[in-house]
Amino acid sequence: MAGKESLLPRNVGIIMDGNGRWAKRRLMPRSFGHDAGMKRIIKLVECARGIGIKYLTLYALSTENLSRPKEELEGLYALFLRYFEEYAPKLVNEDVAIRIIGDLSALPQNVADKMREVCARSKKDAPFHLIFAVNYGSRAEIVRAANFAAELGGKVTEESFSRFLYTYGVPDPDLIIRTGGELRLSNFLLWQSAYSELYFTDTLFPDFDDKQFKKALKEFSRRNRRFGKV
Ligand code: FPP
Repeated sequence: MAGKESLLPRNVGIIMDGNGRWAKRRLMPRSFGHDAGMKRIIKLVECARGIGIKYLTLYALSTENLSRPKEELEGLYALFLRYFEEYAPKLVNEDVAIRIIGDLSALPQNVADKMREVCARSKKDAPFHLIFAVNYGSRAEIVRAANFAAELGGKVTEESFSRFLYTYGVPDPDLIIRTGGELRLSNFLLWQSAYSELYFTDTLFPDFDDKQFKKALKEFSRRNRRFGKV
């Protein structure tokens, strides 16, 4: 049984997979699934805040996703823009800190600028942190950090190295959930997930409701986290 203090994960990462299949089952275009995914994000953020989780890290776009058809990417960028225009400012006003990890330079300028602007207005000491991984790839993040460390010179420690990661200052994810049935991490938080508990579900992301989220948290609370000790 986990220690009492660790019954609730501090940081939950979610690999939000299955939007495309969800739409296909309804004979709808993939963009319909992403739209439903965004609606699910809005609900899950409220749920996580209500429960008392401090950090929610959502994998919104991987570096590999950038090779998807132009039409799908444009739809996703439009959705990011809508979220950062219509929803994110309200959250920031309610003391939610929003942060992006990943390389925004590949996104259309207006979308990247809007995201940066909203993030810049976030307070650092907020009670709830919402982190979007956008054009994010863990290997690219680690190589980027290695280059920073090489430029600086000197001996590298785990602690000093992790300061060069996008996630500097963010606790490692205690729990990583992947929806959509695949059993892999797909280049998500590889350094940070060294001791994360993993939870996989066949549920497609748009169907991953509060009840299922709470089920994953309950399963987490039952895990015996030993961190390599006996
Ligand atoms: C993977 O499912 C999902 C994505 C690549 C995009 C995730 C984006 C959202 C949930 C909405 C984004 C909105 C904001 C505000 C960040 P998939 O399309 O690969 O699903 P499939 O495996 O069924 O094809």
